Amino acid sequence: MRQLIAGNWKMNGLRADAIALATALAAELHGDAGCDVLVCPPSTVLAAVTEALAGSAVMTGGQDCHTDASGACTGDVSAPMLRDAGAGWVILGHSERRLGYGESNALVREKVRAAVAAGLTPIVCVGETEQQRLSGNAETVVAAQIDGSVPAGFAGVVAYEPVWAIGTGRTASEDDVVAMHRCIRSQLVETLGEAGAGLRILYGGSVKPAGAAALLALPEVGGALVGGASLVAADFLAIIRAAS
Ligand code: PGA
Repeated sequence: MRQLIAGNWKMNGLRADAIALATALAAELHGDAGCDVLVCPPSTVLAAVTEALAGSAVMTGGQDCHTDASGACTGDVSAPMLRDAGAGWVILGHSERRLGYGESNALVREKVRAAVAAGLTPIVCVGETEQQRLSGNAETVVAAQIDGSVPAGFAGVVAYEPVWAIGTGRTASEDDVVAMHRCIRSQLVETLGEAGAGLRILYGGSVKPAGAAALLALPEVGGALVGGASLVAADFLAIIRAAS
């Protein structure tokens, strides 16, 4: 399966820095990058970054969207707005939103529907907290997140991001990644039928150039969702090369 390397810039990137980073990526990634490449900048610079990447192999996405297309929702950004700014993708249900803003599986599912209706491909994030892993509930929690967040007919991407591995420099062991990706695969098939067998499952959480090749070679790993390392062009490019 062709891998997807997605950069999640989170709340980082003023206009000049964002354009400089996009320009550095565009200079290296033209033609076939050997894998699919995506960056998800803040919505304020999405249009400028999309423009800087025009003609390159790098696609752009948003980091969240509202369930409605428009309306009285101060401060929110809708899926058609992301599409209008040049996005083809959107990250949904990131743990920083599930835990920081109390987003439920049901809300994430509604956002997925809104994204698809606007022509965006959703990346639905799931992952257990350290407490849930220590108490032996990691697979149950993640399976329930899939079942609750992924609507019928889902044709997007799932990202497994253990909460305790995000931004901490700790990564899940290879055995744990393989076990969880297999668990996610079987839940996707249970929820979606045969369509669930072909969807990409990314790993995320402190993915760095060192170790990326080994991680991406694991069974059922269809790419990576990269936070911190996606803000440094050389590091993000090294991860992309590890995937291609
Ligand atoms: P990190 O973030 O690579 O900085 O751990 C990953 C993510 O939150 O998507």
